[in-house]
Amino acid sequence: MDRLHIVGGNTLRGTVRISGAKNAALPILCASLLARGDSVFRNVPELRDIATTAKLLEHLGLTVELSPGCVAVHTGDSIGDDAPYDLVRQMRASVLVLGPLLARQGRARVSLPGGCAIGARPIDQHLQGLRAMGAEIALEHGYVEARVPGGRLRGAEVHFDMVTVTGTENLMCAATLARGRTTLFNAAREPEVEELARVLNKMGARIEGAGTSMITIEGRAELQPVDHAIIADRIEAGTFMVAAAATGGDVLVDGVTLEHLEAVAIRLRQAGVHVEREAGGIRVAGKPPFVATDVSTAPHPGFPTDMQAQFMALMCLANGRSTVTETIFENRFMHVGELNRMGAQIDVDGRTAIVHGPVRLQGASVMATDLRASASLVIAGLVAEGRTEVLRVYHLDRGYEHIEQKLAGLGADIRRVQGED
Ligand code: EPU
Repeated sequence: MDRLHIVGGNTLRGTVRISGAKNAALPILCASLLARGDSVFRNVPELRDIATTAKLLEHLGLTVELSPGCVAVHTGDSIGDDAPYDLVRQMRASVLVLGPLLARQGRARVSLPGGCAIGARPIDQHLQGLRAMGAEIALEHGYVEARVPGGRLRGAEVHFDMVTVTGTENLMCAATLARGRTTLFNAAREPEVEELARVLNKMGARIEGAGTSMITIEGRAELQPVDHAIIADRIEAGTFMVAAAATGGDVLVDGVTLEHLEAVAIRLRQAGVHVEREAGGIRVAGKPPFVATDVSTAPHPGFPTDMQAQFMALMCLANGRSTVTETIFENRFMHVGELNRMGAQIDVDGRTAIVHGPVRLQGASVMATDLRASASLVIAGLVAEGRTEVLRVYHLDRGYEHIEQKLAGLGADIRRVQGED
């Protein structure tokens, strides 16, 4: 398995182009199940999760052509109805086919995703919403077996007990072809939800309110295929913003909008990092030591859980005590032990990590159990003394397109090596 070798100490400078958003591309690709014909998606990042989604769609009978930055999908008259365990276990987001399949053909058999490294991550809210829309759902042998008597979902009022991103996306897709109006209350407001609504509306759906906590969808008889370029990845951008600051660098994070990163920008500025909108992107410059800053994760527009690990690496370089509280996932501190092995001084008290800084991080061999934790270790490696070896790079490959090339382009001493794990 591949590893990253990083020699810390270089300052990041220059411009980095941000790729398309993974978490927008995944639901959008699944939404292509909803319309017969040929759809084209542009600005799609080349990532392992995209390849897995392509495999899943092919398994469902679609034709999928992947080329750099572009995915062309042909959806025929008849499609399959099952998402097998083998694909779902590789990527939980496979559950995003459930809503489109039920909407399009009134039946679906989707493996239950189960927990993952960061938490239990149930999908009860997805199922509760689909049941409210008339689906009959049984859980059998690890699968969600769902069917719609009469074949067509009906509009309903769905109240989410908690904010769920993919839950909102699944229900929004399901409602596009339902009979009548669906209203989603306590919906997720993430930019990726808005982007999915934008694409569905281009396909002929009637969705209002995406980006707010109340979304209404008027069901249509059918949708059309679409040609669409996907928004930039705010989490990739945020990761480069933190990396730039941590190394004392000055970087233009290009192609992303500051509106999607307000909460991150506010905390970075509080920490003493210069963050400014600049033509087509965001300019970030930083100089350690930083000002100790507390963050607590929350659904959008709050501080994203997907940026928590990276921010914690930055706080290792701040004067004094800062706290990082994780409110979304119950087990998202797997990077703490590894950062401590690199010389960080972080204690965990329940859902709060207490970071004591500043410390001089030291290079070490480290590995992480999820994508964003791996990103925080890369950032730590960029500032650490000596060589850091990041194992299990496949986590990074799920969500960061060509990360080592992009960082090397900014001046980092980083390379990918083949290795045994
Ligand atoms: N939850 C439930 N029941 C549900 C759904 C969610 O209890 O039916 C709980 C979850 O266990 C969690 C919280 O609600 O505690 C929020 O989970 P959510 O459903 O919003 O997460 P998700 O949709 O599975 C997406 C992103 C994640 C990101 C979270 C939170 C995609 C494909 N994934 O996951 O991205 O962390 O929202 O913003 O959009 C990543 O990219 O590294 C990543 C993990």
